[in-house]
Amino acid sequence: MTDEYERSAEFVDVMLAPPWAALGPPLSAALRGITGPVVDVGAGGGHGTRVIAEALPEAEIVAVEPSPALRSVLLSRVSESARLRDRVTVLPEHLLEATLPDRLGAVVAMNVLGHFDAAGRQAIWAMLADRLLPGGRAVLNLQPPAEPVAVPETRFADVRIGRRRYEGWGRAEPAGPDSIIWDMTYRTYDGDRPAGEVAAHYRWWVLDERRLKEELGEHGLALSPTGPAEAGMYVIERGGA
Ligand SMILES: C[S@@+](CC[C@H](N)C(=O)[O-])C[C@H]1O[C@@H](n2cnc3c(N)ncnc32)[C@H](O)[C@@H]1O
Repeated sequence: MTDEYERSAEFVDVMLAPPWAALGPPLSAALRGITGPVVDVGAGGGHGTRVIAEALPEAEIVAVEPSPALRSVLLSRVSESARLRDRVTVLPEHLLEATLPDRLGAVVAMNVLGHFDAAGRQAIWAMLADRLLPGGRAVLNLQPPAEPVAVPETRFADVRIGRRRYEGWGRAEPAGPDSIIWDMTYRTYDGDRPAGEVAAHYRWWVLDERRLKEELGEHGLALSPTGPAEAGMYVIERGGA
């Protein structure tokens, strides 16, 4: 299977650090009271894994990350911290092919749901209905756009490291009734001088709150917003209509 993040991984992890400054506190709050195990779906380089570990200092964490490039970042981040390497297991499979604990305290799916088509989401909701412990929950976010619309070229990241600056740009085009294709460009500058450019493309399955709620309801799961509105975060628990 190809690694969509093979060429972009060196930029993706550093560019996800600033958004995680805002996502971390609401994720910690949403996990309050969970004992584990916790699955971090598409853990990337592990920004969220670290937040989960700090929020739940006793919980076992299973971080699922199929991209070898991003998994390298994740394993390094985990192995460098005694508090992480004792209780974080990194699995290389896609979520729906991974062997997960039978019972789950929480499932965290941040910045990842768009990688799953409708059938993939159904499989995730079935897993939650089947495996979540009493009081267990999932925490995820929806990222715009919620409809398959064109998104004009936008700079979404600007990070300076040493003498270099890394800019992340993205534009999207509709690709059928439920998905878009993101065309990403990662530009490196040395001072003002362009020093490199990497392009990457991802298919992203779009979803709005109403459809998410309907899908969850079919599995007896309930959706509620959590955190600041701009974070687009939700908690999923048992008890839907
Ligand atoms: C935008 S990154 C987000 C990483 C991390 N959750 C974060 O917010 O920092 C999306 C991640 O989802 C992973 N991913 C894509 N398809 C997946 C699947 N089927 N199962 C698990 N992870 C998947 C990618 O490899 C990538 O690491």
